[in-house]
Amino acid sequence: MQKINPFTPNNPVSAGMFAGRLSEIIALEKGLFQTKNGFPNNYLITGERGIGKSSLMIYLKYISCGDIESLEHGKFNFITVNTVLSEKSDLGIFIRLIEKKIMREIGKLEKVRKFLADTWSFVQRIKIMDSGISESQREQEIDILIDDFAYSLAETCNRITKPEKDEEKRDGIIFIIDEADNASESLRIGYFFKTVTELLQQNGCNNIMFIVVGLPEVVEKLSSSHESSVRIFTSLKINELNMIDREYVINKGIEEGNKINDEKTSITKEAISHISKLSEGYPHFIQQFAFSAFDYNSDGEINDEDVLEAAIREGGAIDAIGNKYYANSFHDKIKSDEYRQVLSIMAEEMNSWIKKAEIRKKFIGDDSTLSNALQALTSRKIILRNSSRMGEYRLQQRGFALWIKLFGNRAKTII
Ligand SMILES: Nc1ncnc2c1ncn2[C@@H]1O[C@H](COP(=O)(O)OP(=O)(O)OP(=O)(O)O)[C@@H](O)[C@H]1O
Ligand SMILES: [Mg+2]
Repeated sequence: MQKINPFTPNNPVSAGMFAGRLSEIIALEKGLFQTKNGFPNNYLITGERGIGKSSLMIYLKYISCGDIESLEHGKFNFITVNTVLSEKSDLGIFIRLIEKKIMREIGKLEKVRKFLADTWSFVQRIKIMDSGISESQREQEIDILIDDFAYSLAETCNRITKPEKDEEKRDGIIFIIDEADNASESLRIGYFFKTVTELLQQNGCNNIMFIVVGLPEVVEKLSSSHESSVRIFTSLKINELNMIDREYVINKGIEEGNKINDEKTSITKEAISHISKLSEGYPHFIQQFAFSAFDYNSDGEINDEDVLEAAIREGGAIDAIGNKYYANSFHDKIKSDEYRQVLSIMAEEMNSWIKKAEIRKKFIGDDSTLSNALQALTSRKIILRNSSRMGEYRLQQRGFALWIKLFGNRAKTII
């Protein structure tokens, strides 16, 4: 009989399967507590692909709106607005989206709905701004728009924190802006947050917190649009999960699976340790290796051989991870076969440091091509240069090395 696979490599994890992140949660809770009490904090959350940023934000949303009690500050009662930026989001779209979400969250009472409609009436004007105006007019319109937005937001927040009769009192508003590294230049994300936070303060509103989430390059996006915008945020970098948390994720998944399936599954200690090591602590990889092993297993006990076979076979875990994360680096970002040759040579050493001289011994091509390749691969962040030893390089992740070894050539012939 077909079993339901409890592992979720392609979706943020549910609260019940969430592991670790204790220090991050404590820090963010502190931010919520400060914001509730009129000393707002903003956070900038960065981390590599698949490290668990969105999952942490989903968990935080449960805490901020009171579905889960916080660890140190009791229950919160914030309105939490979760948005995801795409390359297409310009300021107008972004503000309209926020207005819609606020309406949905707090516009349940007729009189509040009326108040919101009045307060956010400027949103109607955004449509006019979109339709063909000059650049300088546009700049002015943007400033007016930001001003209107901050004013309306402040009014809204003040209404819910000091409510009228029959209305529920709330702690404030939390904005989670995920995938902020997608922000287009026209959104002027750094300028937007810097200006909005200042205007909120000027409008007497101190219960709003912005959490901006994205890949590490989001920092550059913020500062290129406004130099000091990064300073309004407390930075939190999301790192790999430790061994205990990795094991927790796997055991919890097996446990969940046994709740929903009649046929039970167990997993050996060796298999757990294999998945933990292969994953290098990336939760996405834990979920993928566990998913593939669960899928591959047929006798009800997942052992280390199941993990390995499910990892390396075609269509298995490494293949899936590679298609999602590495294929683009290997093919689209790199146009030259010589550069790919360098990566294949480096992959033989997995992700250990390797001297340029060692690469040169195996490289078919001239010296300057090799130097160019190493420089280009380093600047595109595909490989790392050892800052403490001259002329040493390595691949960023073991998974990438493994994928190149197993599937690099196959993919090349398809392309
Ligand atoms: N704390 C966690 N416990 C268990 N599983 C997790 C945890 N965090 C993330 N995961 C799992 O890892 C995978 C990636 O997580 P998530 O989507 O949150 O990462 P992300 O950093 O937002 O990635 P991206 O940069 O692609 O948006 C998901 O499958 C999720 O189920
Ligand atoms: Mg995400």
